[in-house]
Amino acid sequence: MIFPSDVRSLLEQNAGLKQAAADISLRYRTGRDKSLKTTTEAAAYTATRMPATFGAVGRALELTLEHLETPPETLLDVGAGTGAATLAVQQLLDLKNAVCLERAAVMRELGQKLVNADWRAFDLTADDLPEKADLVVASYMLNEVADPISATRKLWNAAQSVLLIVESALPESVALLQKIRADLIERGAHIAAPCPHDKPCAEWCHFACRIERSRLHKQLKGGDAPFEDEKFSFIALTKVPVSRCSARILRHPQIGANKVGLTLCTPDGIIEKTVFKTDKTLYKAARKAKTGDGFSG
Ligand SMILES: C[S@@+](CC[C@H](N)C(=O)[O-])C[C@H]1O[C@@H](n2cnc3c(N)ncnc32)[C@H](O)[C@@H]1O
Ligand SMILES: [Zn+2]
Repeated sequence: MIFPSDVRSLLEQNAGLKQAAADISLRYRTGRDKSLKTTTEAAAYTATRMPATFGAVGRALELTLEHLETPPETLLDVGAGTGAATLAVQQLLDLKNAVCLERAAVMRELGQKLVNADWRAFDLTADDLPEKADLVVASYMLNEVADPISATRKLWNAAQSVLLIVESALPESVALLQKIRADLIERGAHIAAPCPHDKPCAEWCHFACRIERSRLHKQLKGGDAPFEDEKFSFIALTKVPVSRCSARILRHPQIGANKVGLTLCTPDGIIEKTVFKTDKTLYKAARKAKTGDGFSG
């Protein structure tokens, strides 16, 4: 997944973002009011966070699509922000229709310039979803909603095929996804990914994707590293049962001399598995595997 360069250069035209980026970062870390109110704050969000949320949704969707028989053709991106999730979905799917629903006017206004979709004002707490779609995505937004369980039930009812929820890998996000997962399974949902089972996951699966850092990102957030790893958690819930992988790789595989150590989420819980070079086919697969990949064997 490559963050589009034309979107990146639009972001880089915005000056005076450093203070806004620092303020947002502090508000997110301390759990204070996270709503973005000014054009500068919206621009700072897109410059510092949009590439990472785009990357996380892209990876989560890639892992989800492996389990769907029919690719979704319509999208509702709820709490769309500036459209990171829609941008990622558009790179992976040939959509007939994409609707971005967003409460904050400053985010919608910037999003409309960056991402081609049907943008609409919408508050998930107060409003009913205006239509249904094959794929409903809520990325990095449910942690901002006062009653996330009721909000997620609305999203679930609007999803014709799959509901994809992406959040950070922070313990509170992980706990939130566990609650949502249990509630929707009771309402008939099936897990497509990440876990290869519908039972409660003993240790929440979380993943990472590598994000290239722009010059502006380095200026705003400091440091010279060319990449950052965005850690994220997700759940993909489907209306009908799907074929699942037998295990999912958590954490980066540990490559040793003639062996690879894997941490796997399996229907029997989280297990540590060592694959030895003597097991040729499996070893080859394990050497190539990344965190998040399905694994058989
Ligand atoms: C952290 S941003 C994530 C934006 C985008 N989905 C992404 O992944 O980059 C959270 C977004 O959710 C929006 N939001 C929060 N509560 C909302 C609600 N009740 N209804 C609609 N949007 C909401 C915020 O305005 C903000 O744009
Ligand atoms: Zn799991």
